[in-house]
Order: sequence, then structure tokens, then C-alpha cells
Amino acid sequence: MIPTTTAHSGLTLPVLGFGTYKLKGRAGTDAIGSAIEQGYTLLDSAFNYENEGSVGAAVRASGRRDELVVTSKLPGRHHDRDAARVTIEESVARTGLERLDLYLIHWPNPGRGKYVDAWGALIEAKERGLVGAIGVCNFLPEHLERLRAETGVVPEVNQVELHPYFPQEEQLAYDREHGIITQAWSPLGRGNDLLERGEVVEIAEAHGATPAQVLLAWSIARGAVPLPKATSPDRQRENLGALDVALADDEVAAITALGRPDGRLGDQDPARYEEM
Ligand code: A2P
Repeated sequence: MIPTTTAHSGLTLPVLGFGTYKLKGRAGTDAIGSAIEQGYTLLDSAFNYENEGSVGAAVRASGRRDELVVTSKLPGRHHDRDAARVTIEESVARTGLERLDLYLIHWPNPGRGKYVDAWGALIEAKERGLVGAIGVCNFLPEHLERLRAETGVVPEVNQVELHPYFPQEEQLAYDREHGIITQAWSPLGRGNDLLERGEVVEIAEAHGATPAQVLLAWSIARGAVPLPKATSPDRQRENLGALDVALADDEVAAITALGRPDGRLGDQDPARYEEM
């Protein structure tokens, strides 16, 4: 059993989940099925990953539907209220499940100015029972404040880019204060040099752990839910092993110190970035 964390609404999520970006088709279904077998229960996906079908197939084949938290996300091109309503229905249909457990707005796309409309559609989908819980991704405090002011409904989850090069101190603090669970995308830095950094390798050796386990344990220690994507059963199991790594405060601080103001993997500042 993976320990859980709780949002302001009472929603509980495991402290570690599984990322599925690029896992699709038969191979994707096999990889996701393997992750479920290893013990992952929180599964990420998105309309724009074009893999809701593969995720749904793996969930249905697992025979463990009720233990799983199946997630998807609304793309920017469908923020209009009616389009959002239909897209959420389409997401659910693509999984072949009765409902999704968590549905998120994928990006705020503030230039379009429609994310409050989209949020209205998510609130309605939750009321209709199409989705169990609702949240956002890549929302900055200013976007979250607007949702709160205009709808009175605070997201249960905010999924953001978070890894040692971009530790998100302020966003984490904001989310914590409002009872929003922060999820971390690209918690391994999408396989860049983080796994080879001397600071990380040294801590890993001290714990008899791997660098990937240390990066994930660092996320968990800071209260963020990492969603590592891994294709092979071995790496999936390795990443779950992060739950057994207890970092000391000074080790967490040493890894956080790798952060840089421009530490994002790509040019994806949610204040400007548009993804349709
Ligand atoms: P693969 O999918 O081939 O297993 P992130 O979740 O930060 O986006 O990173 C995902 C990348 O990290 C993928 O390329 C994935 O490769 C790789 N990866 C996942 N788990 C591990 C691990 N334990 N050690 C090294 N690389 C990993």
C-alpha cells in the first residue's frame, strides 16, 4: 500500500503515481498494465497524449478498477464551456470506463482567457458524477486566485513541472496553504543529467538507493506527488522503491539547492505558454 496525501476536499491520493506520456498503443497498454501489477494505483494521462484508450484498456484488464485513480486532462483548444463538456464526455468514453477519478485542465492558456469557463465545465462534470475529483495543471497563484474568486471552487490538484532544477518553492507553499495537492510532472527531469549529478549520486550511495529513487523521495519529502513515467517493469519497480528512502532534511535541502530560476526543461512558463 502506498501512503496517501489529502486535499481540502477530503480527496486522498497516493504520494507516488505513474506518468504515461508517450505510452500508447499495445505497447503502452502493456507498460501501464505492468505498472498496475507492480502496485501503482494513481495513473496519469491526457486527451492530448492520445492514450486514454490504452490507459483504459490496461485498467479494465487489471480487474482492479476500484483501487485505481484514473486521470485525464482537458486540452487548451476545448476551453469553451460547451466544447469542454463534450471533451470530458469523450475522454470518459475513450477509456471505456464509467467515469474518470480525476480530471484536470491541462494548461491555463491565459492568452485565450477561457480557463474559468473550462473550470465551470469541470465543476459540472463532477456534479454529474462523470469525474470524481477536479483540478488543474500548470496554474500559477494568479490563475488559482481567479478560479477561487469567480467560482468559489478551489482545485483539488495542481500538476506542475517540478524537479530539482525547478523546485517550485513558492507554488508548493501556495498549494499547501490552500489544501491543493501538488503533483510533479517530469520528476526525473525527463532523463536529463539530474540522474548523474554528483550531489544526487552521493546521497543515493549513502542510502543504498538509486539516483532515480532519491529524486522521487525528494519530491515526496517536500509534499509533492511525483508521476514518473517508466516503460520497463524493472524501472517501474525501482521507482516504487523511492517509498523506502527517507532523506534527512539536509539531504533534501542539498538537492533543492540545485534549483535555478530558469530551470524549466523547456520554454513553458504558464504565464505565456500556449498549448492547444
Ligand atoms: P523509459 O520510459 O524508457 O523507462 P520523467 O518522468 O521525469 O518525464 O522521466 C521519464 C524518463 O526517465 C523516461 O525517459 C524514462 O525512460 C526515464 N526513467 C524512468 N525511470 C527511470 C529510472 N529509474 N532510471 C533511469 N531513467 C528512468
